[in-house]
Amino acid sequence: MPPKTIIEPFRIKVVEPIRMTTRDERLALLKDAGYNTFHLRSRDVILDLLTDSGTSAMSAEQWAGIMRGDEAYAGSPSYYRFEDAVKEVFGFEQVIPTHQGRAAERILFETMCSEGDIVPSNTHFDTTRANVEAVGARAVDLLVPEGRRHQEVHPFKGNLDTGRLRELIREEGAERIPLVMLTLTNNSGGGQPVSMANIRQVSEICREHGIPLYMDACRFAENAYMIRLREEGYAERPVAEIAREIFSHAQGCTMSAKKDGLANIGGFVATNDPELARRQRNVLILTEGFPTYGGLAGRDLEAIAIGLREVLEEDYLEYRLASVRYLGEAIAEAGVPIVQPPGGHAVYIDAAAFLPHVPPLELPGQTVVAELYLEGGIRCVEVGTVMFGRRDPETGEEHPAPMELVRLALPRRVYTQSHVDFMVEAIVAFGERKDSVGGYRFTYQEPVLRHFTARFEPLYEVAG
Ligand code: F0G
Repeated sequence: MPPKTIIEPFRIKVVEPIRMTTRDERLALLKDAGYNTFHLRSRDVILDLLTDSGTSAMSAEQWAGIMRGDEAYAGSPSYYRFEDAVKEVFGFEQVIPTHQGRAAERILFETMCSEGDIVPSNTHFDTTRANVEAVGARAVDLLVPEGRRHQEVHPFKGNLDTGRLRELIREEGAERIPLVMLTLTNNSGGGQPVSMANIRQVSEICREHGIPLYMDACRFAENAYMIRLREEGYAERPVAEIAREIFSHAQGCTMSAKKDGLANIGGFVATNDPELARRQRNVLILTEGFPTYGGLAGRDLEAIAIGLREVLEEDYLEYRLASVRYLGEAIAEAGVPIVQPPGGHAVYIDAAAFLPHVPPLELPGQTVVAELYLEGGIRCVEVGTVMFGRRDPETGEEHPAPMELVRLALPRRVYTQSHVDFMVEAIVAFGERKDSVGGYRFTYQEPVLRHFTARFEPLYEVAG
């Protein structure tokens, strides 16, 4: 029998030391940070699971590309290598580089939407929603119901509810819907994939009504690989081909290359519509830069061009999905409730089910975030009432979010299996004493995107 362990399919050539800290040190640092891990310095974090965005380890090839980067203002060969890679992987004709995903979103909605329009999606990511709303349009989430049932296992919990899409089009009229979006994978819903069948159906509905379909392609390779693993008829198909098929159903996409571009910065908007691209380039010039660099250095374009191809390598994707699954299954087996099945880029702990004695307005997700930092120097992020709850500006009354999750996002190619074992041990150790913890309350908050800057205090004695 050949060995069955799925190994990290790379050797480590450059290392970055991790500074170990003690629990007492972490308690003092956490207090200073107002119990908000966004205020911590990364040198004080042992394992950083705050995000998978911009945190990938680049390959030797990408670093070689960095040296090759040509910094010409106009017409750099680095741009043409980037454009070729995007055309090859995604199949769109018009490629516009941006400094990151949200800049691509701003350009897309500014050139496609007007006030009063509606943009449906499976689930809009926060920056996508904010950019839709910034042009006076309305962002509508039409996720399938199983996408909200955390404990239930379903292969494609990121699917868009096509019945509700038809209904929305009938009620509002196709002329008020300038585009439909699909987020691959659905980050806000647990990193869950969208099936090819669903992509096909959504695209048929769009075509019937003359509405263009755009993809938020941030984690397209992880989504394509999950189609291969879970959808009938795809088991033998190369992932690159599955990705091309996904995008063949769309008129364009936005992309944050900080995720499945395996780069530390960058993004793009792509389309098959040359007239739209002409208008988008004009917006680009105004705020991002000339169309052959779009706010990026030539070296960044090189790193993305190489990353977009590397991310489709099947050994990489097998390892990537296996490491997320390994973390999710290990903590679930130990009794920690997670969004099932584990997603493509992250494991989400269901904090409401994990700490049922802490009510939503006492911020159970924030308790998990603070305690995992104390337990093992692990930094993760609350996706619950801190992030999506609302404080009434008039009465000061707090309203909870519909879910209380904690995201453990795995940076790409950064941590090894023993790092993951350490995470599991810390989470399980916290689970053993979870009945002794309580909640948190805000001591400071801003009116918008409060999770980044908030400060808290514990409503229980935090053990030193
Ligand atoms: N769309 C999705 C689905 C995302 O997850 C993100 C970023 C963006 C768009 C925006 O891209 O950051 O390059 O401007 N998600 C990061 C995260 C921030 O931590 O999940 P960006």
